[in-house]
Amino acid sequence: MKLELNVNGEVRHADVRPAELLLDVLRENFGLTGAKPGCRNGDCGACTVTVDGWPMKSCLMLAVEAAGKAVQTVEGLGGTPEQTAFVEKFAFQCGYCTPGFIMNVHALRRIHPQADEAAVRDWLQSNICRCSGYEEIREAVECVLRSRPPADNEP
Ligand code: FES
Ligand code: FES
Repeated sequence: MKLELNVNGEVRHADVRPAELLLDVLRENFGLTGAKPGCRNGDCGACTVTVDGWPMKSCLMLAVEAAGKAVQTVEGLGGTPEQTAFVEKFAFQCGYCTPGFIMNVHALRRIHPQADEAAVRDWLQSNICRCSGYEEIREAVECVLRSRPPADNEP
């Protein structure tokens, strides 16, 4: 079936099967490989994107469910406080989990800009770093929350 998706502010088209996952369509049809296949089971968060501003595990969502919604991937977040903070705080080792964390933190800054430490810990429970770089990730998140919340017209 024909699918039209709004990804990172651009309208994209693909021929997909109804059962195809958003994760696979982003990666294989659109070449957006930032969202990573980790567990493909909803456990690791490496595949996190945002859909209408909310973090979603793209391995748990059909591509057709995202039609008519604004999908954002890490490729659309260049130059944002999230990207900068993760680089400056060295909040990655192998980097496999990093796009998912960045997307989740981006949503956190928009939805709960005043989140305290307990709320941040709770929010990030959905993402796992197999390299266990949690201390640097925590520092990066702190930096991100000190920046202002994104305006509605920002990525
Ligand atoms: S690949 Fe989606 S949660 Fe792990
Ligand atoms: S940096 Fe390797 S999984 Fe997180």
